[in-house]
Amino acid sequence: MNLYEVYDRYPIALNKAQDLYVWDSNDQQYLDLYGGHAVISIGHSHPHYIERITHQLQHIGFYSNSIEMPMQQHLADKLAQLSGCHNYQLFLVNSGAEAVENALKLAGVVTKRSKIISISNSFHGRTNLALAVTDNPAIQSPFSNGFQVISVQLNDIDALKEAMDNDVAAVIIEGVQGIAGIYEPDIHFLQTASELSQAHGAKLIVDEIQSGFGRTGKFFSFQQSGIKPDLITFAKGAGNGFPVGGVLIKDDIPVFKNMLGTTFGGSYLACAAMLAVLEVIDDEALVDNAKQQGTYLKAQLLQIPEVTVVRGRGLMLGVEFSLDCKAIRDALLKQKHIFTGVAQGGQVMRLLPALTIQQSHIDAFILALKEVIEAEHSSKSVNRTLSKVEG
Ligand SMILES: Cc1ncc(COP(=O)(O)O)c(C=O)c1O
Repeated sequence: MNLYEVYDRYPIALNKAQDLYVWDSNDQQYLDLYGGHAVISIGHSHPHYIERITHQLQHIGFYSNSIEMPMQQHLADKLAQLSGCHNYQLFLVNSGAEAVENALKLAGVVTKRSKIISISNSFHGRTNLALAVTDNPAIQSPFSNGFQVISVQLNDIDALKEAMDNDVAAVIIEGVQGIAGIYEPDIHFLQTASELSQAHGAKLIVDEIQSGFGRTGKFFSFQQSGIKPDLITFAKGAGNGFPVGGVLIKDDIPVFKNMLGTTFGGSYLACAAMLAVLEVIDDEALVDNAKQQGTYLKAQLLQIPEVTVVRGRGLMLGVEFSLDCKAIRDALLKQKHIFTGVAQGGQVMRLLPALTIQQSHIDAFILALKEVIEAEHSSKSVNRTLSKVEG
């Protein structure tokens, strides 16, 4: 049986990982500034993470949500403590798209409306309703075209006001647009979205699936705007590789039992993984580290003349170059053994390292980047000379 090709793959098979490093089958070490797509938050194979999951598996790995699971309440308490989101209920699922799907469904059920406002260039996942609010026709299906979705440009307050009326069930905004190439909603835009939603009885959903759990230097990235969204979705970094996701539902939303449901969501193993992540974030002050190291990384990048733009906050950065970004990323991987992420069809380098990153990792990356850029200049001038000779 052949495998379905999910994405283009690097010709690299990994078999070991530790903190910011991964090793391939030839024992070649790589610095990982991509984190398997913003998933590795507390570093690969963190000892506390291994210990908690192993310990849990030795006791009980799974039972469904039909029995008491005090561990889920423990998890909810820890999440409230670290995020400051006290007046919310927690619904646990297994992935980002599932979290978005449930948040949108919930908004529809409680408002009894079906219109949604989403943001241009957004990405919210690949199930049909999540795809309907994802601005990428290439991956949509006819099923996801059947929803009433109005798309508004990021930070266009007038367009948002114009789109809003009393038929809108939900406004959905990424905390920071990741796949679009790292674009942030302005504080004022978020505040207006919150005010308009309240005034018109719509639910504001902030999708923190990529930007949450400390990545931007706040527990949730929207928290710098002071708003309190009605629904918050999270996944990726929450499990550090274990598939977990969730929806935070504001206490004033009238949810009833059985409106939402799941078999696997909130299993013992999922709780153990997420608790381990939260405990390490807390013990190692990783939200502060993300802020500090992100500021340092951004400053170092901006000193390189060929770096034209650095967008984002904390450890969620988008970098543009005056040179070919793909050539730089390829050289970083093949010659310097550094993984980076990508966006906007290859024009933007996305940096999404683990929150445990230290200055020494950043210095090694910046040195490698400068060398790769230098080599790129040299190869260009050799090519120019050759084409003159040949011409
Ligand atoms: C902002 C955002 N929302 C939703 C998703 C979908 O998450 P998942 O792939 O876990 O379904 C992603 C994945 O990249 C994302 O970045």
